Amino acid sequence: MTTTEDRKLSHINIVSKGGVEPAGSTLLEYVRLVHNPAPEHNLDEVDLHIDFCGHELAAPIVITGMTGGHPATRDINAALAKVAGKYSIGLGVGSQRAGIENPDLAYTFSVVREEAPNAFIIANLGAAQLSRGYGVEEALRAIEMIKANAIAIHLNIGQELFQDEGDNSFSNVIAKIEELVEELPVPIVVKEVGTGLSKEAIARLEAVGVKCFDIAGYGGTNWIKVEALRSRTVNRGRALHEPGSLAELWGNPTAVAVVEARSVSQSSYILGSGGLRDGLDIAKVIALGANAGGLAAPALRALSQGAEGLDRYMADIIYQLKAAVFMTGGTRVSDLWRAPLLVWGRLREELELRGVDIRSYLNYQRLLPLMWRSGGRGVQGT
Ligand SMILES: Cc1cc2nc3c(=O)[nH]c(=O)nc-3n(C[C@H](O)[C@H](O)[C@H](O)COP(=O)(O)O)c2cc1C
Repeated sequence: MTTTEDRKLSHINIVSKGGVEPAGSTLLEYVRLVHNPAPEHNLDEVDLHIDFCGHELAAPIVITGMTGGHPATRDINAALAKVAGKYSIGLGVGSQRAGIENPDLAYTFSVVREEAPNAFIIANLGAAQLSRGYGVEEALRAIEMIKANAIAIHLNIGQELFQDEGDNSFSNVIAKIEELVEELPVPIVVKEVGTGLSKEAIARLEAVGVKCFDIAGYGGTNWIKVEALRSRTVNRGRALHEPGSLAELWGNPTAVAVVEARSVSQSSYILGSGGLRDGLDIAKVIALGANAGGLAAPALRALSQGAEGLDRYMADIIYQLKAAVFMTGGTRVSDLWRAPLLVWGRLREELELRGVDIRSYLNYQRLLPLMWRSGGRGVQGT
């Protein structure tokens, strides 16, 4: 058995090496934004600012929670925070359990606020910890540790089931989340970690007051796979619980999860994430109905080329996203919701089997948040 602290480091090492994606995809390859060859603006009129969970971001991007809790992770968080501050995008930290259990490690998290005094920063705790007794007090400590603007609660049942030290206790989690919604001074973001939220989960959580979701779908970093790889290295080649094809095939693909989320929730903030790798992927999840796109592992891998590599990567994806908005004829991120969009093949089939009529979704439902924000008077929005 390893400590929480050591586990944090081995996660970073395994993900940095690559090969942690599952066999299937996000299904974003079944989405195409129609090219508009005659946009009636200039590129410098394209403005990527959005509101996300009540905070302004200069581009609709969040680097989602990854790390902290081992001395070696301090520099990673510092570098991620620098880039988040520079581009005014969002940044999550990894689970703060290690910093709560051992306050001597809190500095590995709090460095993000030092490096990015004005960025939108998201604290992080696990649902399993809530089930085991964490509550308002621990959440307040996590928020205070990094002066967070929001707190993410991660639902990571797949990961827990295949982690040697995993905790399978999830009872009482929704009631705990409801308590946090009522008591905490910042918004709660409920997130998955790469197996995807479902419309049933979103509806259940929205009913207890959650307004921000990170769907973290299948197709990117896969935590069943990561934990199986880790377990094999400590158990001489055989994982404590071998996952079989669950490591390759289990999860709600990102594209499906975004549409499901928006189909049941008009007014919530939705972060589309899980397997997004460039600006076009981000444009696609937004066009499907998300407010913004999130990514984790690509930022870590870009950082392997140093702070400059991460900076270049971020500048590239922001420019790609801007290009996608411009080449669909828009000037605002929300114009992607109105852009002609094609959805076909397996994505369309899966959505129809999940009860989403894709035609009415694309023509009407995905515009509902714009109508909602403008008080039902039209579709001029954010
Ligand atoms: C090294 C690493 C550590 C992570 N640790 C956490 C964590 O502590 N808490 C959490 O909510 N998500 C964690 N995640 C999950 C990410 O936030 C994200 O949901 C997931 O990796 C899918 O996105 P991706 O395909 O862009 O990597 C971690 C991801 C990575 C790559």
